[in-house]
Amino acid sequence: MGKIKGELGNSFCPQALFLYGNYQDDGRPHFGLFSWATYCSIQDEDTECLGFMACIGEEKLTKDLIRKQGVFSANLVNQALLPLADYYGTTNGREEPHKMDRQPTVEPGQILQVPTIAESPVSFELKVIKEHHLAKGSDLFLCRICNVMIAEGLTGRDTPFIERLLQAAPVLSPGESRYTTITGNDLGGWGEPRTRLL
Ligand SMILES: Cc1cc2nc3c(=O)[nH]c(=O)nc-3n(C[C@H](O)[C@H](O)[C@H](O)COP(=O)(O)O)c2cc1C
Repeated sequence: MGKIKGELGNSFCPQALFLYGNYQDDGRPHFGLFSWATYCSIQDEDTECLGFMACIGEEKLTKDLIRKQGVFSANLVNQALLPLADYYGTTNGREEPHKMDRQPTVEPGQILQVPTIAESPVSFELKVIKEHHLAKGSDLFLCRICNVMIAEGLTGRDTPFIERLLQAAPVLSPGESRYTTITGNDLGGWGEPRTRLL
């Protein structure tokens, strides 16, 4: 395939979408939507641990809460969660005090003091190990995955993995500000799914 020089960007290189969760000062759960996230291996003495890298852009409530608490949850966004996730991703928590009047079903973390989302098929509980300041308004949080909660139906090895992956129905945002399924069906542009919320 011939290639031409493109605009700098990560289109066509999909990453999963996550809702990062923390408790606000008033005790209510807070969520923001994030896609600059991936995994890494962390060798901890003799134990191989799984790490999670979260890049957070300009200053925002999610970053304030993560810095303050040193922990957060990362909840995989599936199709059922997309309208709410889109709302959380397009509503500024610092400027909209009523942002969190809309809530998913929240369950407390099993290991860490973080809110997790019952509707999400996979929830990580994360502890920040290091914050790296990359540039003005760009910070990378290197975390240890302390716990993973997975929807019961996804763990049965009798069902082929691909079937279970389709059942999990993660949503991607692989380019041009649009959401898609993992099989490539369009789920709308950023800011559209939230209009389906009642
Ligand atoms: C699809 C999508 C992906 C996003 N990914 C990121 C991201 O990886 N990093 C980031 O800093 N902001 C990202 N955002 C923007 C945040 O979700 C947005 O700043 C939101 O207001 C955060 O919530 P808060 O203001 O309550 O902290 C994304 C938004 C959308 C719609």
